[in-house]
Amino acid sequence: MENKFHWYDGKFYDKVIAPNQDCTFRIMRAMMNPNSSIIDIGTGTGRFVFQAAEKFPKVIGVDLSSRNIKFANSQLKNLDMNNASFLHADAAELKFHFTEKFDYSTVSYVIHEMPYEVRLTVLKAMREISNEIIIGDYFIPQPKNKRGYSNRIAEFLAGRDHFNNYRNFVKHNGIYGLVETLGMEILQEKIGVHGTSHVVRIR
Ligand SMILES: C[S@@+](CC[C@H](N)C(=O)[O-])C[C@H]1O[C@@H](n2cnc3c(N)ncnc32)[C@H](O)[C@@H]1O
Repeated sequence: MENKFHWYDGKFYDKVIAPNQDCTFRIMRAMMNPNSSIIDIGTGTGRFVFQAAEKFPKVIGVDLSSRNIKFANSQLKNLDMNNASFLHADAAELKFHFTEKFDYSTVSYVIHEMPYEVRLTVLKAMREISNEIIIGDYFIPQPKNKRGYSNRIAEFLAGRDHFNNYRNFVKHNGIYGLVETLGMEILQEKIGVHGTSHVVRIR
């Protein structure tokens, strides 16, 4: 398995970047029924997992960055939380790690950074191991406001491959394009406060 590495993984991601996703995380949590099991794909340093585990009985975070998973586990160690756990694994290979079916698989701000084929493979893998999928990511097209432009700059600064994958995500009409290509159905959608992100529950 290839390890994923970004210069901002670990503590920097956790303290500086992840808190910006709290609005998306709140919308995602509100879309799920109580007593549900959740697997969070591309969990980063696990901020969503820790928040969701306050409310849901079983939450697992999966990420391909060993530095992010190490950081998440170091946080978990200091908490009295038995219903959360983390796994260093490739989202494209979920079925080799999980035979059980989850109520929901979630994925936030991950698919826009994946190459087109990987994006489809990961969504198919999530479909196999969960009843419903919740995706939080950029709204495409991005609004022409300050936040929209700063998101584009952030994507550019994340590196050439990352930016090319983001541009490909835009070209394929973001989440809407994915849902159509996979023949899936949108059950619920909420737009984020700045109009630059949305959360979509699909089956
Ligand atoms: C921008 S971060 C998002 C983290 C978190 N979901 C959030 O919203 O803050 C994207 C994460 O996806 C992970 N990732 C990318 N490709 C992956 C793959 N194939 N399998 C598992 N994780 C992956 C990266 O390592 C990174 O931690």
